[in-house]
Amino acid sequence: MTLTAPGSTQADSTAGGPIPPNPARGLICRNCGATFGLIAEHACAECFGPLEVDYDNGLLKAVTREQIEAGPQNIWRYAGLLPAGQDPATRVSLDPGLTPLVSAPALAAEVGLRAPLWVKDDSANPTHSFKDRVVSVALTAARELGFTRFSCASTGNLANSVAAHAARAGVPSIVFIPADLEQGKVVTTAIYGGELVAIDGSYDDVNRLCSELVETDEFEDTAFVNVNVRPFYAEGSKTLGYEVAEQLGWRIPAQVVVPMASGELLTKIDKAFSELVEIGLVEAPEGGWTVFGAQSAGCNPIATALHADTDEIVPVKPTGIAKSLNIGDPAAGAYAIEAVRRTGGWMDYADDDEIRDAIQLLARTTGIFAETAGGVTVAVLKKLVASGKLDPEKETVVYNTGEGLKTLDAVSGLVGPTHRIKPSLRGARDAGLLG
Ligand SMILES: Cc1ncc(COP(=O)(O)O)c(C=O)c1O
Ligand SMILES: [Zn+2]
Repeated sequence: MTLTAPGSTQADSTAGGPIPPNPARGLICRNCGATFGLIAEHACAECFGPLEVDYDNGLLKAVTREQIEAGPQNIWRYAGLLPAGQDPATRVSLDPGLTPLVSAPALAAEVGLRAPLWVKDDSANPTHSFKDRVVSVALTAARELGFTRFSCASTGNLANSVAAHAARAGVPSIVFIPADLEQGKVVTTAIYGGELVAIDGSYDDVNRLCSELVETDEFEDTAFVNVNVRPFYAEGSKTLGYEVAEQLGWRIPAQVVVPMASGELLTKIDKAFSELVEIGLVEAPEGGWTVFGAQSAGCNPIATALHADTDEIVPVKPTGIAKSLNIGDPAAGAYAIEAVRRTGGWMDYADDDEIRDAIQLLARTTGIFAETAGGVTVAVLKKLVASGKLDPEKETVVYNTGEGLKTLDAVSGLVGPTHRIKPSLRGARDAGLLG
């Protein structure tokens, strides 16, 4: 199974405007540099290193701001910079993206930032997390590669998104999750009607099983978005970098704070900024940009390795309420460390109480209700300012990647009605509401 070669999809779109060529020319090993065609593999046949998409720089450089701005109000405005989906007719998509970039002065004041602070609120996507971006790109590539069933190993949000995309496309799905996920993540997957397999084990157990299933004859026609089509999946996260730069008026922020599970999202936001500079769409900020990573105390293998000044990531058995980030053996951890070191950033982690406090802090200062992953990120932002690792004088973007309604249990014991009264003026007066 191979995708079409670069430049070969040029034709006129019925949806309006010319279809850009696919800039992806193949896959390349992040470890040894071996190159492959656009195939459904995630590991290098030479050294087992992770494969990523290799682009034709000339085609990337041909993309202009004007083309992007004239594009649809979703991630496909960046189709000229992605490895699939240039022709709208080929897309398997809920059309995610162009989520709000929210100015957050009250949050800035509370955490001690004096420069502008923004929250990129990706809970506004169709299934309420940034995973819709990666799934749209992965499944579009998957269908072009000839797969007829969609799957994933998930910590929750990916499951929601794969099941919903499959439902929209009318393609069967089979999704694998740890059995102990939040009810809000289970129901929001099961509702789409595909197969949902709950496994008595951790996410890392689920992922291992999926890596075995993908090799079986019975799963030959199945695209696991984060296993056999992972190189395409990972590229979808770049749109979170492109969008922030475009929404800031084609500027890259000086500092970003990003939640980490596998570490892929962080590396791809950094990659998006590098690409924008390389292809001349944006100028790098003075002094470059700095990337910060956030984990929970219950699952902090990447941050722990950085703190120990090593690249050696020791897998952990995750605990704690930030279940969507609970990947104990993170596939892109070493690359996340590289990006953070190269840009002069740092990583930190927050415990469950800090996560709960940060969910409330974000909600009361911005009107954004984040899931536990957003709590992790805001709690870490606060710590990074307090420890002096993050410069309070520099513009900062913090990524909220998921929706609070999916992890209600995290805060349901902490907040509730401030008053309970009888339905009368007397009731209101007795409660002190009328002075
Ligand atoms: C809400 C949320 N934020 C962030 C992440 C981290 O993504 P990555 O595995 O790319 O580091 C996840 C992963 O599942 C997630 O669900
Ligand atoms: Zn290799």
